[in-house]
This record gives sequence, structure tokens and C-alpha cells, in this order.
Amino acid sequence: MHGGDPVLGAVRAAQQQDLPAVEALLKSCNLPTGGLAQHLPGYLVLEDAGQIVASAGLELHGTAALLRSVAVQQDYRNRGLARAMINQLMKQARSQGVRAVYLLTTTAQQYFRRMGFETLPREAVDPAVTTSAEFGDSCCATAVAMRLALGG
Ligand SMILES: CC(C)(COP(=O)(O)OP(=O)(O)OC[C@H]1O[C@@H](n2cnc3c(N)ncnc32)[C@H](O)[C@@H]1OP(=O)(O)O)[C@@H](O)C(=O)NCCC(=O)NCCS
Repeated sequence: MHGGDPVLGAVRAAQQQDLPAVEALLKSCNLPTGGLAQHLPGYLVLEDAGQIVASAGLELHGTAALLRSVAVQQDYRNRGLARAMINQLMKQARSQGVRAVYLLTTTAQQYFRRMGFETLPREAVDPAVTTSAEFGDSCCATAVAMRLALGG
């Protein structure tokens, strides 16, 4: 579908020096940055023409994980970048023994439903994940929680 996009080949693991650029991208998308520095090693980024134009991060909490910071700069949207990065992170999660991936969203519930995530009450989220900085972030107090069970 979007598999032939040459930009996709530039998806890579984030490095510590990407921190300011990822932070700026998240702020431009109104996404929380709490705990970002700590969890940056679990992030994928897409660099194009020397700029970080997309990110997606996975925080591991035992057999549960939090998908966060899924952000694509405006000019790069609707070409499957977020989908490709999420799929890559789900594959990684599975190989690391993660059984369920959670996320919080205020704006992209329909998007993640199409990716297979289901809404659930926040109280039903694995307590290991609710310790995350993102869960404590006041901007996410109204966000919907979603979950994807990873088979096998
Ligand atoms: C949500 C976001 C990451 C999608 O990135 P993307 O690379 O453009 O997404 P993809 O190319 O994989 O998918 C595009 C499809 O999703 C749809 N889509 C995009 N954002 C959506 C949203 N918020 N809700 C529902 N559908 C959405 C597009 O209309 C498109 O549909 P189509 O395939 O029928 O044409 C991007 O729009 C973004 O950065 N938004 C701001 C940050 C944000 O809200 N992130 C989610 C945080 S939890």
C-alpha cells in the first residue's frame, strides 16, 4: 500500500541527541513530553532532510507497554508513516514478551481503532502502565484509554 515510500526506509531508533527535536515535534502536535528523556531509547523517529518529522514511542512496563508520542509533521501525513512505525513497535513489543499495549488519546481514537485498539475504562488499564508520566500528565486527564492485546 504505502510500502514503497522511500522515506519509510529512514525510520530509525531515536538517539539521545534527538531529544530537543522530538520534544519540539510533540509540542507542535500538542502531545505530552513528560518522561520523554527517560523513555527516548524506546522511540522510533523518522529523519528527513536533517529534520525529525515523525515519532512513535513504546514505554515497557513488564508485560504491558504504553504506546505514546505518535506524531507526524503535517507535510508528511497520510502516507502510512504512523501506521508503519506503530507496526514496527508492535513487532518489537511482541518479541520483548509484551502481552498488551495501552495508549491514551484525546484526538485519534478512530485512528487507533482502525489499528486494532479497543477502548477500555481507565481503571482497567494495567497498573504497571498507570505509573507512567504520561498517565499523570494533567493534559491527559480527559483522554480515552485504549488497548491492543498481542497474541502469542
Ligand atoms: C494521527 C497521526 C499520527 C497519523 O499520522 P499519519 O502518518 O498521517 O497516519 P497514516 O498515514 O498511518 O494513516 C492515515 C489515515 O488515518 C486517518 N487519520 C489521521 N489522523 C486521524 C485521526 N486523528 N482520527 C482518525 N483518523 C485519522 C487519515 O485520514 C488517513 O485515512 P485514510 O487511510 O482513510 O486516507 C497524525 O495525524 C498526527 O501526528 N496527529 C497529531 C498527533 C496525534 O493526535 N497523535 C496521536 C496521539 S495519541
